[in-house]
Amino acid sequence: MKMAGQHKILVVDDEVEHADAAAEALRRVGYHVETAYSAAEALNKLGKSRYDAVVTDMKLPDESGLEVLRAARAARPALPVIVLTGYGTVESAVRAMKQGALTYIEKGASLNLAELRETVRKALEGAPGSTAEERQLLDGVIGESPQMRRIARLVKSVAPTSATVLIIGESGTGKELIAQAVHKHSPRREKQFVALNCAALSEGILESELFGHEKGSFTGAASSRKGRFEYADGGTLFLDEVADMPASTQVKLLRVLEYGEIFRVGSNEPIKVDVRLVAATNKELEKEVREGRFREDLYFRLKVVTLYLPPLREHREDIDLLVDEFIREFGCIHNKDIIGITPQALDTLRSYQWPGNVRELRNAIESTVVVSPGGIIEAADLPDYVQRGTQLALEAPKSAEGETAALSGMTLKEAERRLITTTLENTRGNREEAAKILGIGERTLYRKINEYGLR
Ligand SMILES: Nc1ncnc2c1ncn2[C@@H]1O[C@H](COP(=O)(O)OP(=O)(O)OP(=O)(O)O)[C@@H](O)[C@H]1O
Ligand SMILES: [Mg+2]
Repeated sequence: MKMAGQHKILVVDDEVEHADAAAEALRRVGYHVETAYSAAEALNKLGKSRYDAVVTDMKLPDESGLEVLRAARAARPALPVIVLTGYGTVESAVRAMKQGALTYIEKGASLNLAELRETVRKALEGAPGSTAEERQLLDGVIGESPQMRRIARLVKSVAPTSATVLIIGESGTGKELIAQAVHKHSPRREKQFVALNCAALSEGILESELFGHEKGSFTGAASSRKGRFEYADGGTLFLDEVADMPASTQVKLLRVLEYGEIFRVGSNEPIKVDVRLVAATNKELEKEVREGRFREDLYFRLKVVTLYLPPLREHREDIDLLVDEFIREFGCIHNKDIIGITPQALDTLRSYQWPGNVRELRNAIESTVVVSPGGIIEAADLPDYVQRGTQLALEAPKSAEGETAALSGMTLKEAERRLITTTLENTRGNREEAAKILGIGERTLYRKINEYGLR
């Protein structure tokens, strides 16, 4: 697997020793470098692999370095290209800059390797969206839309405080990711980020998970145990799906927020805790309050700062960046050399509704990458349901009986494949949820998705 920071660079020079020396100098500082000894070889490589920067000599025997420059920029308009020119050939350097070269280095009999390294480093740093940090608004958070920028600004200004943050958004919009960003941008970052899903646990277990318990406090409590609040001491506790917290637990949570202390289940001994609380929900919490399912006083305590994460369909301008990032990420994970995506495929992705938001997009890109032979992703490579677009939602729901009848006569494997496909469609690509519905682990589901080539 390629490390995120490991940039891939193409060095083009017909003088073999020069090319090799430059490549070696760059490799020594950690870059992954390939060489091409002619323009033709360079063009060939640019068509096959994705590079983060190109260093090319202007004077090549077959075609000029300008051709390499053009090809590089056609592959990726933001790709930084550094041209090497002979001493005193300023015009050719100027021409190269006009064609979009990022910068040039004058070289005499030999190239100044320290200067080369420095120029490449700067190029990678300065290229828009070429380094991991610059594609990110916050740690791990990709986006450039005004909505996402606003959220990033808010996170940065509230993170240093200990204010409770409430994150509201549809499923897959990045609530947990933003919760982590709040933690990572806070002075608490060296301590634990502890997450707990309030919907997944029964009341008794939820309380013992949150507050811990003393030995013998309930049947089965063979020893005493720390709760998540204690683990998160000095750090951040993320309460996911907080709307589903049972009423009695809500009361206890409110107490903690008011007094900064907890009681383990079965104990009267208060324990001081210093925990920053971040809560998330995909429900309309205000409605839960109105309808009496959520305590109003707790609601006000939680929503000191409220972040609304928009559904992806409301910030489609982030799709390009997200797609780019996910292609890169899954290309590394699954060992596929993917150069890019056609404008048509990108259009298809941009116009899809994404009911499952960023998670659905991420899953769709992973599936596409897994089945792609490498090279450029085309519209036809995208998952069927994405290609079909909104038609998915317009299909009449099939009756359960009809489905069972239709299943008889097929192999168990085929039935399994169909069941998984339908479940994934119903959960809008949310694998966690699909696995839950199917009653299997996420890993098992993942293996089956690959095994059946589902996407
Ligand atoms: N802006 C973003 N940039 C990069 N990745 C993102 C972004 N938003 C979401 N993701 C990714 O999408 C996936 C879903 O995000 P996350 O789990 O945070 O969503 P969620 O709102 O908590 O969903 P749910 O309500 O279903 O739990 C994760 O893999 C996350 O890393
Ligand atoms: Mg979540």
